[in-house]
Amino acid sequence: MTQRTKLVAGNWKMNKDPQEAAALVEALLPELEAVEGVEVVLCPPFVDLALVSQLLEGSKLGLGAQNLHWENSGAFTGEVSAAMLKAYCGYVIIGHSERRAMFGETDEIVNKKVKAALAAGLKPIVCVGETLEENQAGSTADVVAGQVRAGLAGLEPEAAGSLIVAYEPVWAIGTGLAATPEGANEVHRDVVRPVLRELFGEKAGDAMRILYGGSMNEKNAAELLAQSDIDGGLIGGASLKPAAFAAIVKAAA
Ligand code: PGA
Repeated sequence: MTQRTKLVAGNWKMNKDPQEAAALVEALLPELEAVEGVEVVLCPPFVDLALVSQLLEGSKLGLGAQNLHWENSGAFTGEVSAAMLKAYCGYVIIGHSERRAMFGETDEIVNKKVKAALAAGLKPIVCVGETLEENQAGSTADVVAGQVRAGLAGLEPEAAGSLIVAYEPVWAIGTGLAATPEGANEVHRDVVRPVLRELFGEKAGDAMRILYGGSMNEKNAAELLAQSDIDGGLIGGASLKPAAFAAIVKAAA
């Protein structure tokens, strides 16, 4: 069986100014220093990246951004490029459902961003997931497979080693209503993994991490993370609470 190192990423969303970010990192570091066997990534807002990258120096914790623009530079007011992010971090969340729903991000845009991130040496955490309506209409598999295929279209086979996918059912995000461990694992194992194997080959597809996101917390993490194809978590609300986030990381270790 393929061994996949679990990855737990904290998506802080639009929370924590630099001062608050520093306090959160300082609370997390002693909790997480000794945890072995799990990759941890913090994803604060852009304005915190420089400071947080300094605070994380010498620690094992990784740093990621929450978005990027696909061009390298130019007249794109308000945007940040992959090369700029690379100065501070190693990861970037792409295609989060909030960006898709509120900022018009399509699968084509997600695909351009994934390519730009990879070209700059960033590891994309590509988010996919169905809405409540799609779920109730029974189209979860079609929607999720379609998003993975389109978001990861046209990549070189070597890209597989740098890519992380996060399955985040939209109805589970911020609602306190996580998917059941079996339900989430079914999507990971029977929908996302087969598409990754199809795109990148069996071996590479089996080695890729598929994170679950959507109301994962210190109470439900262990059971979710015990599933065969849940290789970590993308944590929103609980990543802002040091004790809760540390407990999730420990559950993954
Ligand atoms: P949540 O958010 O953990 O607050 O549900 C997860 C996410 O949006 O990545």
